[in-house]
Amino acid sequence: MATNRNILTLDEFTIQEMRAFPRATGELAGLLRDVALAAKRINLEVNKAGLVDIFGDEGTINVQGEEVKKLDVIANDQFMGVLRHGISCAGIGSEELDDIVIFDDPVSNNAKYVCLFDPLDGSSNIDVNVSIGTIFSVYKRVSELGKPATEADFLQQGNKQVAAGYIIYGSSTMLVYATKRGVNGFTLDQSIGEYLLSHANIKCPEAGKMYSVNHGNFFTYEQPVKEYITACQKKTKDTGGPYTQRYIGSMVADVHRNLIKGGIFMYPTTTEKPKGKLRLLYECNPLAFIVEIAGGKATNGVIRILDVQPTALHQRTAMYIGSLKMMEELEGYMDADQKILS
Ligand code: AHG
Ligand code: MN
Ligand code: MN
Repeated sequence: MATNRNILTLDEFTIQEMRAFPRATGELAGLLRDVALAAKRINLEVNKAGLVDIFGDEGTINVQGEEVKKLDVIANDQFMGVLRHGISCAGIGSEELDDIVIFDDPVSNNAKYVCLFDPLDGSSNIDVNVSIGTIFSVYKRVSELGKPATEADFLQQGNKQVAAGYIIYGSSTMLVYATKRGVNGFTLDQSIGEYLLSHANIKCPEAGKMYSVNHGNFFTYEQPVKEYITACQKKTKDTGGPYTQRYIGSMVADVHRNLIKGGIFMYPTTTEKPKGKLRLLYECNPLAFIVEIAGGKATNGVIRILDVQPTALHQRTAMYIGSLKMMEELEGYMDADQKILS
């Protein structure tokens, strides 16, 4: 197949973006390259998932005599290893680790950024060959350069993110990332091992026709959420409903589809999970940043996700995210409820 030289690779694109900032050091481009490398390695492991019966289950010893690890743990180790060896990241926070990890070596102590990630999103879909993903979030440190990073570097509001992105291991493998300049998507060309710019300057459609929510939890949601979901199923003059329900169970895949086609994704509080299920720092903030840069909106039902002040690494939140008009429709129900209560 002839190479189309008009298509930029991820590295070419990030270097080109960097040139727009004469004072840029290239550290962010380096960090994105590290993330992309870790994702290529995870992609290989994901593609082997169906062979688990041959190679052995988690905790067992495989035919090579090695202990078999869970894919979430493998993904976490890949990310942590690549970022530790890179020169751009001073420390990490991960869904798979109880506490933040500060790298604390001479090179890392001088790195400008910290990174938070959900190494494997949609774990329950691994065994059934459904799309899964990785989500990441990048902050500039607030602590002094030259010293080890601190907890304060990680507990910043989402609106301080300098970059955020995800990788989706689906019918193809895609890396989508956002900076304040825009959202761009790259598809992995397995034949050359490079990500190619396939979705330039992604914009989330203003209106959509899809809503994603776990319907099984319907009776445990708050009243305004129930009313909005019910409205999604009805024909109304304003919305042109009924909308189509789509729920993959891997948020990264649901949000990716809605980002491209238009739609809303909701993970409300439930009576059993009054603080919500999804994690603010490495699931909701990065996706909220991407969707907002693309023209959409994300809230916890009261305020912007990106304005929530984090207090803990594994903090949970309710999450509503998607096309602007659908989010405004939902807010109409939420606001009405708050007026009744006040
Ligand atoms: P993870 O695999 O990282 O634990 O995240 C799973 C999350 C999210 O991706 C998904 O949208 C949600 O959990 C699904 O939860 P329910 O099965 O409760 O709907
Ligand atoms: Mn997740
Ligand atoms: Mn996960």
